Amino acid sequence: MTILVTGGAGFIGSNFVLDWLAQSDEPVVNLDLLTYAGNLQNLASLQGDARHVFVQGDIGDRVLVDGLLATHKPRAVLHFAAESHVDRSIHGPGAFIKTNVEGTFTLLEATRAYWQALPEAERGAFRFHHVSTDEVYGSLAPDAPAFTETHPYEPNSPYSASKAASDHLVRAWHHTYGLPVVTTNCSNNYGPWHFPEKLIPLMIVNALAGKPLPVYGDGRQVRDWLYVSDHCSAIRAVLAGGRLGETYNIGGWNEKANIEIVHTVCALLDELRPSAEGPYARLITHVKDRPGHDRRYAIDARKIELELGWRPAETFGTGIRKTVQWYLDHADWVANVQSGGYREWLTTNYAARA
Ligand code: NAD
Ligand code: DAU
Repeated sequence: MTILVTGGAGFIGSNFVLDWLAQSDEPVVNLDLLTYAGNLQNLASLQGDARHVFVQGDIGDRVLVDGLLATHKPRAVLHFAAESHVDRSIHGPGAFIKTNVEGTFTLLEATRAYWQALPEAERGAFRFHHVSTDEVYGSLAPDAPAFTETHPYEPNSPYSASKAASDHLVRAWHHTYGLPVVTTNCSNNYGPWHFPEKLIPLMIVNALAGKPLPVYGDGRQVRDWLYVSDHCSAIRAVLAGGRLGETYNIGGWNEKANIEIVHTVCALLDELRPSAEGPYARLITHVKDRPGHDRRYAIDARKIELELGWRPAETFGTGIRKTVQWYLDHADWVANVQSGGYREWLTTNYAARA
């Protein structure tokens, strides 16, 4: 038995592959294009491990995907690959349509052809697990109930619209062709190997470099944070026991305003790596807001808890401490991801916000 993971060199995908192989000997074929967000360093501990087969390539390359499915005969496809950063989707939405919509379409079509040709017993056991986001549901008013799986789709950014489109394709491939799919919609992840373009790693990396900590607008936007290994355990639970064609929301019951997150990161750094210049919070700088910025996300995770018995293992307090410590312990990784491309992105995104 083998699973095919797409996007397994990215933040969540690499955490998933590492977690999977720490808990099981079932091999993983890892298809990743290695965009700016993909990094084989995340998987360095698997070098020489025959259970991990890495293939650099595009989910939109039908010939490649057909060949991988025919060669490795996976019992499941876990689809993480995506363009994932909202700010980048505002500056350049084309890549999001190409990978998240067209790429998912190609992957679904290749998977359908492979699945239809499987012997009946294997066809029944096969799964296509689509990894998606809570952002497809849009923005919540401050006192509105958290997103359930039946919340209407109201995506507001090019990123969330492209993910919503991919969710709809996955749903349609189940209803029309009977492809055995499950979809998970998760809240904001944080933890090791998180590329420092996203809020939490950016704040840690900037603070350690003595740079401004750019908080969009008033910083009162709310996200629901989940430690990444809890997302991985939820995916394993849904893959193993989720009902076909169903979606499952995944979240940590950890709603926090961005400004609170930034202060927490600063306080942890003050404790673990104090600066001679004074408290890190001195670097907090309010900058021009993200266009179309969603005000609040919150996940109602009761369905996965009640049906599958999943619960997060980490609280925000334990998870954020581990995360800050991980960045302090991995200065080499941080230095290596700060390439010329990364610096160009910082200029593109932040120069006009000052
Ligand atoms: P990421 O940007 O860190 O990683 C994406 C990975 O996909 C990279 O390794 C990249 O090289 C690869 N990739 C991109 N285009 C590809 C293509 N055309 N073919 C093959 N590989 C390609 O993203 P992430 O934060 O790890 O997110 C993974 C998935 O989880 C995404 O589908 C995202 O929408 C979803 N998600 C993310 C979060 C979050 O907080 N980060 C929350 C919920 C859901
Ligand atoms: O909700 C799940 C989603 O979470 C995932 O689907 C996305 O892939 C992932 O990137 C994340 O999206 P967000 O837009 O919520 O994450 P980001 O880290 O970019 O921003 C978190 C919040 O922090 C958001 O309200 C914007 C704000 N922010 C972000 C950056 C990068 C700032 O205030 N300053 C910043 O510099």
